[in-house]
Amino acid sequence: MELPHRPRRLRRDGVRDLVSETMLTPADLVAPVFVDATADERTPIPSMPGQERVPLADAVDRTREILDTGVEAIVLFGIPASKDDTGSRAYADDGIVQEATRRITSETDAYVITDVCLCEYTSHGHCGVVEADADTDPTLTVKNDETLSLLAETAVSHAEAGAEMIAPSAMTDGMVDAIRTALDDAGFSDVPIMSYAAKYESAFYGPFRDAADGAPSFGDRRHYQMDPANRREASREVALDVEQGADVLMVKPALPYLDVVSDVRREFDRPVAAYNVSGEYAMLHAAAEKGWLDLESVAHESLLSIKRAGADLIITYFAEDVAETL
Ligand code: PBG
Repeated sequence: MELPHRPRRLRRDGVRDLVSETMLTPADLVAPVFVDATADERTPIPSMPGQERVPLADAVDRTREILDTGVEAIVLFGIPASKDDTGSRAYADDGIVQEATRRITSETDAYVITDVCLCEYTSHGHCGVVEADADTDPTLTVKNDETLSLLAETAVSHAEAGAEMIAPSAMTDGMVDAIRTALDDAGFSDVPIMSYAAKYESAFYGPFRDAADGAPSFGDRRHYQMDPANRREASREVALDVEQGADVLMVKPALPYLDVVSDVRREFDRPVAAYNVSGEYAMLHAAAEKGWLDLESVAHESLLSIKRAGADLIITYFAEDVAETL
């Protein structure tokens, strides 16, 4: 055969790496850490094999384990000792994330990102304050504008504790602006915001809600998180966050939304983050446990694909395991 083009020539060992378009490094990865104010020992999360909630006393050790794999950044989630209607433990000075942040930033070199949301802290499990009677009337939802000041207060309390980046995930309209203004007013104009800009109302968050104890006690999040059917809307959502001063733009979940990751990469000149969420992690583990998939290979391929689609950084429960193989 006279074939002028033989793409297989460049697939041999030796040249393959020279022409590889995408490279995954531990520096691309962010590992989630769950700090639990209700626990005095580490508790495994059943639906997320290998992940655990750690008590405050273990927050530094847990972070050091992550750093040992070459991963340099963590995102902190808190499980508070108590919950109330307005999620007041989210913005308490001595809240679990604030305390953990203080310890981790003073004792390690980890880059500490904090998730800013109210759902782990409210008694009803929604991401903000809800209207009276929302538990019985499905047309009622989270009060957007009343929630903004609480998110801003949470962000400032995290920055005061030493958080190096703030990641608001509440899908409240105007949240980036409210947080940027509050951070600047409090003297934290150098603290960047990584907005969960295009966050979908996804069933892939199931295991996380067990992990962080943040499932809504009534209704769902479709009044504020995005409809999985919508792609162009993601660009509008992201544009608003860019206008409001978001430094890093996140798409979440990752694998089922690679079209959105790719759009955000092409349309916006900002770093793009993707959150490889709990359900994406759980399903690969479940298949591997049955012997149906090779976990190390599919985990690596998943993260590589997220990067290939356009993500600069990936938040993933696979961070440590994959980093160790790179
Ligand atoms: C908080 C938050 C959630 C996740 C990250 N931040 C849960 C949710 O929105 O229901 C999900 C992460 C995951 O599934 O790994 N709002």
